[in-house]
Amino acid sequence: MSMNRTMSVDESTVVLALETSCDETAAAVVMGGNDVLSSVVSSQVDIHAKFGGVVPEVASRAHLQNLLPVVSSAIEEAGIQPERVNAVAATVGPGLIGALLVGVSAAKALSLAWQKPFIGVNHMEAHLYAGLLDDPTLEFPLVVLLVSGGHTMLVDMQDHGRYRVLGHTIDDAAGEAFDKVARYLDLGYPGGPAIDAASTRGDAEAIDFPRAMLHDGLNFSFSGLKTAVINHVKKNPDVSNDDVAASFQAAVVEVLVAKAVRAAQQTNATGVVLGGGVAANSRLREQMSKVGAEKGLRVALPSREMCTDNAAMIAAAGWHRLRSDGPTPLTAGAHPNLRLPIDTSGVSSR
Ligand code: KG4
Ligand code: ZN
Repeated sequence: MSMNRTMSVDESTVVLALETSCDETAAAVVMGGNDVLSSVVSSQVDIHAKFGGVVPEVASRAHLQNLLPVVSSAIEEAGIQPERVNAVAATVGPGLIGALLVGVSAAKALSLAWQKPFIGVNHMEAHLYAGLLDDPTLEFPLVVLLVSGGHTMLVDMQDHGRYRVLGHTIDDAAGEAFDKVARYLDLGYPGGPAIDAASTRGDAEAIDFPRAMLHDGLNFSFSGLKTAVINHVKKNPDVSNDDVAASFQAAVVEVLVAKAVRAAQQTNATGVVLGGGVAANSRLREQMSKVGAEKGLRVALPSREMCTDNAAMIAAAGWHRLRSDGPTPLTAGAHPNLRLPIDTSGVSSR
């Protein structure tokens, strides 16, 4: 098989990518690492809503059912023949092991059948690329604020594949805090959009919730805030849910924005890029833009489609990895706890 490092990877290289790490079944076709020919996402959110969270076994089974139709749609929408695909990428982690295996196995099977290289992609690295896909004019160095259901981190991105984590949550992820508070307030699942919607009706200054670690480094902590919300509601059973939601959201957003700006200033970044599901939050987008502008920082707010899980970002990251590292061996597995590979060649790591 001609899957070697010498394969030329250029503007015409077409990557088909599959994403099945959590509850979205997605496939995309991207040319040259940034030209999105198609991006299809089939969300399982309705299936999991009745359980109040993602049920791993249910997710794996739904991925099995949805993946081939989603892949066919992605190829059809891209307007290409399958032979035009130069490489097949899939998310290899982090994520739910059963869910990951569906995408990884399918991508390897396509790679073998089509005799095209396989590329194993780190889901978190892909989230870093989502913002760049939406705005190719962004210039390094950048700070990426990655806020999802499983992760909250600030990443100093010096160049493609060269980055380090500047700070992360020491307990709950921001999205997890939104989901838990929403569940407590009976606002439904997923919690982020529900709190976002309730907040538009509430007063963000009604309750002064704690801003944990606001002046303390670049790490985050959200579990104390969640407890503060619960305690407040217990003590004030008649409090308006909308005011609690709005005040909680304001507390999360203030900390995220302050730390993102600090990280950008410390690394002389040209701007801040938002990523992850929580980046769809309307107050976060509004405040990040406002404060960023005040501090002379460029703020990139990717579209909702690019903030949440999708396969276009997997294809983009895969294209860069194929170019820098070559194909991934088909013997490589899926890794539920995969972390961001931290580059140490050009920037100091910690
Ligand atoms: O990136 P994502 O789609 O999946 C992963 O976790 O990888 O993020 C999902 C998270 C959930 O916790 C959801 O509640 C949150 O993003 N989220 C939001 C909003 N939309 C989604 N959080 C706050 N405001 C939103 N509008
Ligand atoms: Zn994600």
